[in-house]
This record gives sequence, C-alpha cells and structure tokens, in this order.
Amino acid sequence: MGNPALRAERDGPIGWLIFDNPAKRNAINEQMWRALPKAMAGFDADPEVRCVVLRGAGTTAFAAGADISEFEKRRANANAAGEHDNIIDAAQLALENSAKPVLAMIHGYCLGGGLEIALACDLRYCGASASFAIPAARLGIGYGVHGTNRLVASVGHAAAREIMLTGRRYSADEALAMGLVNRVLPDDELESFVRKLSSDLASNAPLSMAASKSIINSIIEPAGDFSRGEALIARCAKSEDHVEGRRAFMEKRAPKFRGK
Ligand code: COA
Repeated sequence: MGNPALRAERDGPIGWLIFDNPAKRNAINEQMWRALPKAMAGFDADPEVRCVVLRGAGTTAFAAGADISEFEKRRANANAAGEHDNIIDAAQLALENSAKPVLAMIHGYCLGGGLEIALACDLRYCGASASFAIPAARLGIGYGVHGTNRLVASVGHAAAREIMLTGRRYSADEALAMGLVNRVLPDDELESFVRKLSSDLASNAPLSMAASKSIINSIIEPAGDFSRGEALIARCAKSEDHVEGRRAFMEKRAPKFRGK
C-alpha cells in the first residue's frame, strides 16, 4: 500500500481526483488538502479536461473526513486550528469556483470533511450502501461558515440542524430524501453511471455550464455578519472539549464533553 495521497489522473476529457488513504478509510491529511487546489488548477488550465470526478480509492469510503490523527499537532491551538480550517476551505473553494462541472462519486463512508468536500461539488451520486454524517459535535469542532452554508443550501435549515446537532449517521436513502445527494445507485452500478454522466457533461457547452455554476454560486453566497459565529468557532478550537474529542477518537472511546 502506498503513502496517503490525493491522486490526479486524466482519462480523456475527465479529470479524476482520488483520495487514496485506504488504511484510514481515505481520511484526508493536510498534504492531501493542500494538493487539491493545485490539482484543480491543473485541470482548470487544461482545455482537454471538460469534467472532474472525485472519488475515494476502493469502494469502502469516499472519505472519512479530515485525518484526526493530525489534529493534536495541526490543531494544537486556536491559531493553528484557524490555519488548518483555511487550508480545508481553500480545497473546497477550488472545487466550487472551478468553471468545470465537478461530481462526487460516493462509495461507502462520506463523513465530516469528506461530506464537506462532496457538498462543494456540483453533483453527488452515491451507492446504496453509502453513509453520511458530520460528527463535528462528537469532536468538539466548530464547523465553518462556507461548509455550513453549502449544507443549508442543499438540505435546508431543518435537516441541517439535525445533521449538525446530532452528528448521527444517515443512510443513502435518507441522504437522498434530504437532498444531500442527487441520486442513489446500486453499488455495482455507481461507477458506470458516473462515467456515462460525466462523459455526457464533457460534451455539453463549457461556457454555458460555467455561467450556470457561477450564477448558482452567487445565489447561495453567504450573506450577513458571521463575526459572532466565527468567534464561537475559535472558542471551540481553544476548548478542552476539542482536545477531548480528538483524544477520545484516537483512544477508541466515547468522549466526555463539559462545555469548556
Ligand atoms: N482520521 C484518522 N483516522 C481515521 C479516520 C479519520 N477521520 N477515520 C478512520 N480512521 C482510522 C481509524 O483510526 C482506524 O485506524 P487503526 O486501524 O489504526 O485503528 C482505521 O482508520 C479504520 O477505522 P475503524 O474505525 O477501525 O473502521 P470502521 O470500519 O469500524 O469505522 C468509520 C469506519 C469511518 C465509521 C470510523 O473510522 C469513523 O467514525 N471515523 C471518523 C469519522 C469522523 O469523525 N470524521 C470526521 C473528521 S472531520
């Protein structure tokens, strides 16, 4: 098994981005987050690439979120956590701001930062055994403005509140009912469906699709004053609960949160 990496591959007009860290259910480490905008810039600059598809290596997971084993070092204090969040934001913005259609092909676990990434794609298709969650409240993390905005834009505020406050796992059918994904396919048909769809998109008019993407992005652009929310995110990053959340995951035990 190779080192964890984000692999970028081109297959005709389709650019593939693959989260390759199967030993950790394709968890995304900092190097992979940083590689994503660079890989997207390569696809954006290549006129031969007409559509981009993200997936996890294998079929067990799209991505089980950010690599929690790095949190002790990368999120050691509020400044470091803010920097880590910025790197994660930049990866998502690279997908959202690309002029090309971007699809997430979701097998298996799509959790936390993995779901954030999927929500920054234009289209999401999953296999019937996929599962979804944002367990920020099980890790003592404040979830960012852009990620929360994309979630609310997809599922509405009622479902977004349940997803965020419970941190619970949702099945593929529940995800479809909430609007988290566009369609559920039998597991063994997902890849052929996505290959056919992405090749159809690759033959559509690029300028027309770019215009639609840009307009939809502007319509859902977060508006308002987020300074209070951002202060609360920073408070999470400084909290004892944030330390407890990551330690509990690494020690394979339930966290004990105290609101401090
Ligand atoms: N970061 C770091 N390591 C992770 C990880 C993550 N996000 N997700 C899984 N792993 C690691 C586990 O620590 C374990 O490592 P080990 O073999 O050294 O013990 C390995 O991947 C397999 O995970 P395990 O929990 O044993 O497999 P599972 O099939 O029982 O459960 C998950 C899979 C994805 C449900 C579970 O690993 C999980 O809940 N992961 C964390 C999800 C999360 O909170 N993501 C949000 C982060 S922003």
